[in-house]
Amino acid sequence: MIISLDECLLSLQAGEIVALPSETVYGLAGNALLDSTVEKIYQLKGRPSTNPLIVHVHGLGQAEDLAEINHTARILTKHFWPGPLTIILPKKPCIPDRISAGLPSVALRAPAHPLFREVLQGLNFPLAAPSANLSNSTSPTCPQHILDSFGEKAPEVLDGGSCEIGLESTVVSLVDEENIQILRQGPISKEELEEVLGQQIANPGSSENKETKQSLHPAKPSLSPGTGAVHYAPKTPLYLYDNPEKLLGKKSELTEDELVMVHNKEQKENFGDNMFPVLTLSEDGNIEEIAHNLYATLHLADKQKKQAIHLSKIVQNHPLSGAINDRLSRAAK
Ligand code: TXA
Ligand code: MG
Repeated sequence: MIISLDECLLSLQAGEIVALPSETVYGLAGNALLDSTVEKIYQLKGRPSTNPLIVHVHGLGQAEDLAEINHTARILTKHFWPGPLTIILPKKPCIPDRISAGLPSVALRAPAHPLFREVLQGLNFPLAAPSANLSNSTSPTCPQHILDSFGEKAPEVLDGGSCEIGLESTVVSLVDEENIQILRQGPISKEELEEVLGQQIANPGSSENKETKQSLHPAKPSLSPGTGAVHYAPKTPLYLYDNPEKLLGKKSELTEDELVMVHNKEQKENFGDNMFPVLTLSEDGNIEEIAHNLYATLHLADKQKKQAIHLSKIVQNHPLSGAINDRLSRAAK
C-alpha cells in the first residue's frame, strides 16, 4: 500500500517497517536502535542473521553518535554525502549486535533522495534499511517491484517514483585507515575515492572473490557478508556472456521460450527479427542509463516467464562497468 509522508513517519515511530525510496534502490526501513524492529526486517526479507544492515543517517552529526569517525571518514563524507557511499567504521555501543551481525563495525550511509532525507529529518533515530527485496533477489527500483517481490506480505511504501541511479551504494571499509577496502562496487568508483583521498586503494572485491556459493551462510560473518556469490538474481535463470559478440554467436540456438537483453540499439539490430523477445537497456548504450534500467529490465524479464535470460557483460571502459558486471556475475547461473 502506498502511504503519505506523515503516515510513513507515524509507522516508523511505532516501530513498524516501511519501504522508502533512495537514489540507489528502495530500502526496507525501520528504527535501527530497536531490536524488535530490526528483527522484523530480517524476518520479512528472509535475510540470514549473518548479513549486517546499513544504518542510514542524515549526516555526519548523527553518524558521530553511532560510530568512531576517523580522518578518512571525514574526508569521504564531506565529498560524497549525501550520496551512494556506505562507510564501515568501528561501532559505538548503542548499535544493536543484530544490525552488525555481531561484527565490531557498523555500515553508515546518508542517502541523497529528498524523501528519504525528509523522513530522517522527521525522526530522532537512524534507520536500518537493506534493499526492499527478498534476500538474494533483484533489488527494487520502483514501488511495483516491492509488491511483486513480497506479494501479500509487502510493506507500506512511500512512493518516490523510479530510483535515479538504480544500483546499490558503494561499500567501503574504513576500519583500518591504512588498508581501505572496497567491499561492494557501486556508483562511486575506486578512482573517484582515490582522487579524493590522494592515495591508492586495493582493487575492489579481492576479499569477496574468495567467497564460494557454499559460503553464503557462514557460521561467522565474513568480511563483507552480503557479497556472496549468488545475489541480485532474477527468478528466471540468467546466462552471462563475456562480450556482445559471444552473445550474438548464440543467436541461432535461441528459442521463443528464451529472452535476450542488449545494451544498445545496434546490438538489438544485430539480432534482427526473432522468435524471442529482445529487451534494450539503453537505446544509445549510455552506461548511466544501463545502470538505471538494469534491475527494472530484469524484473520485466521475469514477468515474461521465459526459461532463460541471455545477456553479456559491459565492455565499455567506464567506472560504472565494474559495478554492473559485478551485479551481473552474481545474478548469473
Ligand atoms: O544503496 C544501498 O546501499 C541500499 C539502500 C537502501 O541504501 N541498501 C543496501 O543494503 O543495498 P543491503 O543490506 O542490501 O546491503 C548492505 C551491504 C551488504 O553487502 C552487507 O553485507 C554490507 O553492506 N555490510 C553491512 N554492514 C557491514 C559491516 N559492518 N561490515 C561489512 N559489510 C557490511
Ligand atoms: Mg541487497
